[in-house]
Amino acid sequence: MTNFDALTYAGNRDNLLDVEGDDRYAFERADIADAEAVGRVMAKGFDVVVNFAAESHVDRSLYDPARFVRTNVLGAQNLLEAARSQGVPRFVQISTDEVYGSLGPEGKFTETTPLAPSSPYSATKAAGDLLALAFFKTFGFPVIVTRSSNNYGPYQFPEKLIPLCISNAMEGKNLPVYGDGMNVRDWLFVEDNCEAILAIAEKGRVGEVYNVGGGCEVPNIELIKAMLREMNKPESLITFVTDRPGHDRRYALDSSKLTRELGWSPRVGISEGLRRTVEWFSQNRGWLERVRSGAYRDFYEQHYGRKL
Ligand SMILES: NC(=O)c1ccc[n+]([C@@H]2O[C@H](COP(=O)([O-])OP(=O)(O)OC[C@H]3O[C@@H](n4cnc5c(N)ncnc54)[C@H](O)[C@@H]3O)[C@@H](O)[C@H]2O)c1
Repeated sequence: MTNFDALTYAGNRDNLLDVEGDDRYAFERADIADAEAVGRVMAKGFDVVVNFAAESHVDRSLYDPARFVRTNVLGAQNLLEAARSQGVPRFVQISTDEVYGSLGPEGKFTETTPLAPSSPYSATKAAGDLLALAFFKTFGFPVIVTRSSNNYGPYQFPEKLIPLCISNAMEGKNLPVYGDGMNVRDWLFVEDNCEAILAIAEKGRVGEVYNVGGGCEVPNIELIKAMLREMNKPESLITFVTDRPGHDRRYALDSSKLTRELGWSPRVGISEGLRRTVEWFSQNRGWLERVRSGAYRDFYEQHYGRKL
């Protein structure tokens, strides 16, 4: 298996120390927007390519949309093109439920809901997603797209809502909550998503889109209160901040296609998932500290005695 990653601010080799020594694992530090690098690595030959690489943080996309276009659109195009020319037999494009835009109080997104992205992040993810499907329709290239809801769990970079709140609460800092806190997300524990992606990569039908939802719809404010209870911290840490422009109100995914076709359903509910996530961050304060201070960039070098 080859892990191809540019190690942007969000990439952290510290997370994969347990597989670094395995002969079956190789790491390539390169940018998916670099067609030459993608072509060189793709020439090694693969049974399946899964494109997780992305600029993924909506807030950052408001300040630097061009970076999102480069990675999420051009990068996806480079991977698709190189994989197609090498005859890779399966390509999984990791997309997001954010491509569907925002829901009212009722209903769920299905795989046939029209795409209506709201942010530069979701618009560029929609472009990558549609490009992948176009490679199937135009060239018969065997692509599958997954659209998952909000992930959370161990190792998540602490700019995303749950690890940010855990890490702030640990330090007694305020927890910023956008608007009235009533934006609803459908939370998916990361291990459930990994199981879904594996099942899709192995047995999914090519040319298809699969929604992957956690079946756990919770307003942000309720989620944060539950997390504070789990941590024994006071609700007075919650601070409401001005809402993000274009902030989608509600996401909810209908994942019945994935359940019907591949027998997948999420196993970890929000209470267990939050408990496990809080526990992980509490037991891995060194990891969190290295990420927050930027020292994770040097950790690999200290550990292995060579640069990343
Ligand atoms: N986190 C979520 O809740 C969520 C939900 C739905 C879909 N997704 C999608 O899942 C995927 C992974 O999300 P994440 O939250 O782990 O993201 P992340 O931002 O935490 O990590 C992104 C990874 O991609 C790498 N990367 C970024 N730009 C690159 C480039 N140009 N070339 C090579 N590597 C590059 C980074 O170094 C990092 O390792 C993304 O495609 C994202 O859009 C995430």
